[in-house]
Amino acid sequence: MFDSYSSTVVMFVNGKKVVLEDVQPEVTLLTFLRSIGLTGSKLGCGEGGCGACTVMLSHVDESGSIVHRAVNACLAPLASADSCAVTTVEGIGSTATGMHPVQERFSKFHGSQCGFCTPGIVMAMYTFLRNNPRPTARECEDAMDGNLCRCTGTWCGCMHAHEATRCVCVCVCVCVCVCVYCVLCVRCCCCGVCLLL
Ligand code: FES
Ligand code: FES
Repeated sequence: MFDSYSSTVVMFVNGKKVVLEDVQPEVTLLTFLRSIGLTGSKLGCGEGGCGACTVMLSHVDESGSIVHRAVNACLAPLASADSCAVTTVEGIGSTATGMHPVQERFSKFHGSQCGFCTPGIVMAMYTFLRNNPRPTARECEDAMDGNLCRCTGTWCGCMHAHEATRCVCVCVCVCVCVCVYCVLCVRCCCCGVCLLL
């Protein structure tokens, strides 16, 4: 068994093959992704609670079927991505290359405020739809239970998955409050970042 041990990791990141030698067991997938410039995945809690680091990990199981999983990259060891395909928020679309429908809906329906949690939410929803392209609204809501948004703490995530169009329309009740320190800014979102400026 140990004859086959290897510290080399081979994986695909957003469709590009990556070969890594001497991967250390304590290095997380999130640390690696951010080190190569894929900073869309965020480090929030670092302990699997907020979902800001969510990426999609895909592999082929014993039956030959492709399995997609939304994983917390802050907890996943880099070595666990061996023989897998990793898809980050940069891999599904951008303003430069064209947004994925999930990203587009978040943008058009004002689904984020500071945006810190948004990549993780997008990837959780993207992975969910890859596995379940015709979900109910309740299933969409349940799929979001591992992702927290600090700005829209009252985030009444009304998510309607339109079965006919197979797209996700995200309608969020955005609470725009005025910062008590400076009434010039009307985009204070309660996350506290503006208070540090
Ligand atoms: S950073 Fe919060 S779950 Fe990974
Ligand atoms: S928009 Fe979710 S944490 Fe700011």
